[in-house]
Amino acid sequence: MVEFTLPKNSVVTPPPRPPSKGGDFQRVEVYRWSPDSGENPHVDTFDIPRDECGSMVLDVLLKIKNELDGSLTFRRSCREGVCGSCAMNVNGKNTLACTKSLESYAGETLRIYPLPHMSVVKDLVVDMTHFYAQYAAIKPWLENETAPERERLQSETQRAKLDGLYDCVMCGCCSASCPSYWWNSDRYLGPAVLLQAYRWIADSRDETLDERLNVLDDAFKLYRCHTIMNCVDTCPKDLNPAKAIADIKQLLLKRA
Ligand code: SF4
Ligand code: SF4
Ligand code: FES
Repeated sequence: MVEFTLPKNSVVTPPPRPPSKGGDFQRVEVYRWSPDSGENPHVDTFDIPRDECGSMVLDVLLKIKNELDGSLTFRRSCREGVCGSCAMNVNGKNTLACTKSLESYAGETLRIYPLPHMSVVKDLVVDMTHFYAQYAAIKPWLENETAPERERLQSETQRAKLDGLYDCVMCGCCSASCPSYWWNSDRYLGPAVLLQAYRWIADSRDETLDERLNVLDDAFKLYRCHTIMNCVDTCPKDLNPAKAIADIKQLLLKRA
């Protein structure tokens, strides 16, 4: 059997686990790593008084940063599940910290880690450079040969085809949960970028269907999806990247 081991410098030092302060406190364990320390990653433990903290996972992180440890590093902006920047792994599942309620972890220790299989920049911040380059490669904008005389209108049916696609906030939770993307992210586009690719394919105002399909018709870019469905399970916006991928494959089959 093949055995995989982590490089020595990425093994996480186990957290100290002092006795819990009880039900009025939320126990939180947070992954920490700084490129400046020269040390391996470790986990910090905090006990947060429940009645002094907001109701979402992001509120816990803000409480820690503002009052206990200003060096804790994470991304966030909108606090409304719209910008996609607070994606992280909470208790084993990728999610948006700002829309995930503490109530959904009642009685559990919160274990907060960066998105898996992404390079860590610091603490909970991962390097999205490659992910965004793949996004740019699918040309996430309308492409047209002809200049319209007025705005391009859509029927209700045409517009409805974008539901479940335009709502993607490019948080990366799905791609970072996809085993195919873990192993082949250098060439496989992953669920987030493929859902976005289909968003522009499905748009009646775009005139470059063939070119878009040509770009995706590739053994690695598209066909590394093996319908494992982690992406659907983890998407914090309840979207279905696996279906978008299947729809692209079907279009390719039709035109073959
Ligand atoms: S499909 Fe869902 S999980 Fe994936 S990037 Fe979009 S919003 Fe995030
Ligand atoms: S369905 Fe495809 S894209 Fe989604 S997790 Fe599985 S392999 Fe990855
Ligand atoms: S802060 Fe914008 S999605 Fe969470």
